[in-house]
Amino acid sequence: DPTDDLHRPLVHFTPREKWMNDPNGMVFHNGTYHLFYQYYPDSTVWGPMHWGHATSKDLVHWQHQPIALYPDSLGYIFSGSAVIDEKNTTGFGRNGTPAMVAIFTHHDPKGESAGRNDYQNQSLAYSLDEGKTWTKYAGNPVLKNPGIKDFRDPKVMWYEPGNKWIMTLATLDRITFYSSPDLKQWKKESEFGKEVGAHGGVWECPDLFQLNYNGKNIWVLIVNLNPGGPNGGSATQYFLGDFDGKAFKPFSTETKWLDYGPDEYAGVTWSNTGKRKIFLGWMSNWQYATVVPTLRWRSAMTVPRDLGIQKIGESYYITSNPVPELNVLAEKPVVLNNIQAGNFDLTEKTGLVNGPSMIQLKAAQIGDLSIELSNEIGQKLIVGFDQQSNMYFIDRRESGKVEFEKGFAARHTAPRLSTKQDMDMTLVIDNASIELFADGGTSVMTAIYFPGNIYSRIKLQSPGNLRLESLEFKRLRSIY
Ligand code: FRU
Repeated sequence: DPTDDLHRPLVHFTPREKWMNDPNGMVFHNGTYHLFYQYYPDSTVWGPMHWGHATSKDLVHWQHQPIALYPDSLGYIFSGSAVIDEKNTTGFGRNGTPAMVAIFTHHDPKGESAGRNDYQNQSLAYSLDEGKTWTKYAGNPVLKNPGIKDFRDPKVMWYEPGNKWIMTLATLDRITFYSSPDLKQWKKESEFGKEVGAHGGVWECPDLFQLNYNGKNIWVLIVNLNPGGPNGGSATQYFLGDFDGKAFKPFSTETKWLDYGPDEYAGVTWSNTGKRKIFLGWMSNWQYATVVPTLRWRSAMTVPRDLGIQKIGESYYITSNPVPELNVLAEKPVVLNNIQAGNFDLTEKTGLVNGPSMIQLKAAQIGDLSIELSNEIGQKLIVGFDQQSNMYFIDRRESGKVEFEKGFAARHTAPRLSTKQDMDMTLVIDNASIELFADGGTSVMTAIYFPGNIYSRIKLQSPGNLRLESLEFKRLRSIY
């Protein structure tokens, strides 16, 4: 189908065919990044979940691998994480080869239709050959449901000071922390969040890890939420604070969003990457994920993002920025200095765009700015900054096919958090998505779109004729 090719991302991971949702089990091992994902190989809508699998050496080019985990008598294979059991705490390792262990939710559809409330349980599977073949643990499930309908998406990490594993689990309207010496026996440690954060929907897909800020370690708790996101539907919130091996204590109760746009969800980070924390999200939204107009496959992942921390006033915030590895795709940049953005046709300098690109711009002041991508049939996508409301925005109301769901045609906004007097924006543009990273990655938005023809023109507009110190444009080569 030609429109499938038109909307096929060229610099983002996507399954060759059929349905994909959350990234799962992301782990770095022996120089390879593993990406597992919620996958239904029989249809382009959600169904009995498997773990699909792909691998990469550079976070950019991905190799499809055989399906890693299939549903079994305990149920579908829902979201979860993977660790490398270096100390062989599980005994799954053999002859010095540590096991790659997946910790996932078994979702029993029979229990669900029988109206029970204990049909989600946590289980293990392990691989001794770099994720190619898997053995499910005979003692599954390892963490039984105590009677909480939504009890899922275990993210496990090794907590060195306590010499134990910590599981961060989404339990309906809060996070429950568990600990274990061997990934098999789990003890409840504490709960967090019933009274804090955004609660417009169910808490899902959490993550817990440390980020360094000026030599100090800060704990990050990511909690995905569906629905109830700042622009409707699914979104990723986070908390910063302390974790002592038992309980998480937030520095503040302010609700913070890792990505304000409509199309980043279920995002979590890679395990086993040391101090570097790399985040990846599913580039869709449950509000319309199953009806977006692609026929052979559904959905893509965001670009991988490096996470950091910035302090603004007295508060800390997460920053996310596209991983520098993406530059392996970049063609020779077009660099422009001192341009007036009043009414500036970038295409005059770059030629027709016709494919993925990256734009980085800097202004010495803040001011209204819009960047419009368009095609010759009058469809357009506008991204920019509105000074009066102090908001970044992505407007996809006239972006192409929008009628498949009533909320899709919208102008979405993200507050500018930075208080700096200058402004910077990085855009990662693909055939059917845009990701905006502003002010060093403190305001981030992701949105998908489905134009009837590829966007080939880029125009800047600014009512105040904002001067840009620099603008760098790079075409990105396809990863396929
Ligand atoms: C999040 C989610 C998870 C669940 C998975 C099922 O998008 O609902 O909570 O494990 O998708 O596919």
